[in-house]
Amino acid sequence: MSRFLSKRLSSLKEYVPGEQPKDKSYVKLNTNESPFPPAKGVIDCISSGVLSDLKLYCDPVCSKLTEAVCGIYGVGPENVIFGNGSDEILSFAFTAFCDKQTPAIFPDITYGFYKVFADLNCIDCKEVPLCDDFTVRTEDYMRAGGTIFIANPNAPTGIMLAVSDIEKILDANKDTVVVIDEAYVDFGGESCIGLTEKYDNLIVVRTFSKSRSLAGARLGYAFGSPELIRDLQTVRNSNNPYNVNTLTQLMGAASVTDTEYFRKCTEAIMENREYLTKKLTKRNFDVLPSKANFIFARSASISGAKLYEELKSRGVLVRHFSKDRIKDYVRITIGSREELDKLVMAIDDII
Ligand SMILES: Cc1ncc(COP(=O)(O)O)c(C=O)c1O
Repeated sequence: MSRFLSKRLSSLKEYVPGEQPKDKSYVKLNTNESPFPPAKGVIDCISSGVLSDLKLYCDPVCSKLTEAVCGIYGVGPENVIFGNGSDEILSFAFTAFCDKQTPAIFPDITYGFYKVFADLNCIDCKEVPLCDDFTVRTEDYMRAGGTIFIANPNAPTGIMLAVSDIEKILDANKDTVVVIDEAYVDFGGESCIGLTEKYDNLIVVRTFSKSRSLAGARLGYAFGSPELIRDLQTVRNSNNPYNVNTLTQLMGAASVTDTEYFRKCTEAIMENREYLTKKLTKRNFDVLPSKANFIFARSASISGAKLYEELKSRGVLVRHFSKDRIKDYVRITIGSREELDKLVMAIDDII
């Protein structure tokens, strides 16, 4: 740390993303990326004409992308905003809807970036313990007195909260904002997008990183009432109105319109998730019920940390979290069948 860093950031613990090692090629099941390439149109839309247009700033209102997304999800352009990954939109939401009087409220076991965004914005946060089985107890969020952030399905557990339960939370918090992070909803989960018409306090955040195989393009989006979206736009325009580059806008529009490829990829992930769950259950693993493109699993015969290390030494990367409640588990991204078979072979070798 330099002697110039603002005092308010001196104790900030930054977010540590999953490893992206370059030393050798791994079976990479640690950061919930898709094992499939992006839709064909994504590759085809990058012509030399498009590249030459990079001399101009990108479209700050993402016109083509907005039209494509609105067409697929049946919302108006005033109901949607785009970001440089959904992380950026979440960051906007912390800035826009939390302050000294309005803390951020989220489960104790959830996406690690929420705490970092709260700390970066000097916002108090209330971490609400999940039940012993890692489910959300909706009663804990009644008149919560702050801005609620819920990843649904949750990460790293993969467990889904029913939309009817989210409605209970929305009903009980009409004067504060509820942000539902649906990064993983496309793998068999139930979306809350439909509720954004009914609740003016709901924001639904989504990403192209997982189900649309575009993690490297950095594209996230959110739905909500025109007023909430306007607030997020204010924060965006006060940060960087050119937050989604020209290539990403085009690739996003091409991706979202290829519904058939999207269906095929997400179905393959769901099938592979069942496949891996069965293989691990047979090997005495305890696997949490997942609606995401990953599973959270523990073995009675090896600790989470050791399993992570042993797998890594055999060329398979998974994610381990040292937090006490979940240190016995590893999070495994659902890859291709071939990748999962390599993982299972490595596990058989270890255990
Ligand atoms: C729950 C959750 N939300 C949001 C994100 C951010 O995704 P991105 O910024 O790639 O859209 C992630 C990434 O892993 C996540 O796990």
